[in-house]
Amino acid sequence: MRAHSKLITSAQQMIHPQLSARVLKHLRHDWQQPLHRATVTQFQRLLPILRTLDRPLLLDSGCGTGASTLTLANLHPGHWLIGVDQSALRLRRLAADGLGVHGNAILLRAELSSFWRLWVAAGWRAEKNYLLYPNPWPKAAQIGRRWHGHPVFPLLLQTAAQFELRSNWRLYVDEFALAASWLGAPVDAVAAVMIDAPLTPFERKYHDSGQTLWRVRIGAN
Ligand SMILES: C[S@@+](CC[C@H](N)C(=O)[O-])C[C@H]1O[C@@H](n2cnc3c(N)ncnc32)[C@H](O)[C@@H]1O
Repeated sequence: MRAHSKLITSAQQMIHPQLSARVLKHLRHDWQQPLHRATVTQFQRLLPILRTLDRPLLLDSGCGTGASTLTLANLHPGHWLIGVDQSALRLRRLAADGLGVHGNAILLRAELSSFWRLWVAAGWRAEKNYLLYPNPWPKAAQIGRRWHGHPVFPLLLQTAAQFELRSNWRLYVDEFALAASWLGAPVDAVAAVMIDAPLTPFERKYHDSGQTLWRVRIGAN
């Protein structure tokens, strides 16, 4: 039986009118919000492992169950994959005590905005950061919860040399691409994802429901 997943509907049909003001404000002002304490602890646990890694790093930000992290780890045996998600429920099968090493993949339970801040502050830079199907927050009033409308956005763009964002809501991808271009990042054209084997559980669910999925690649490829 085909899983059915509803199309995203939103009263917002165009780029959010406050997006440019928000991105500019976040660029000009350092983000002062206290770090998520449990994520600081998790990052301290990760650091000694990170220091031993001898291959380039790939991040899977918001990795859900970690299935995509393990798939990417198989596809990139010459890299280390780090999958991060805040949900113990989603990560439970894969991470013991919030941190688990599986071959060339590490799964970590952590809150992303704090994790990215700690990552950049400690001088780490991944080769690529995958953001696969982030929560869309489709109501216009939720613009501040979309990653490109969030104060962490300028730091997010420092976490890696390249990025790949995928979503089933094209407007999310368009906004993210535009915001990244305002900050000077080289941004590819937004394109439909050609699904051969779905990379993530959400990708499978949306694909099985017949939805078009969108991606943007950012950074020097
Ligand atoms: C729609 S799901 C997509 C999961 C997975 N990437 C996939 O495609 O199957 C979004 C995921 O982002 C995680 N997430 C949302 N906000 C987060 C945050 N601030 N920190 C860490 N994880 C977060 C959620 O727990 C959830 O697993």
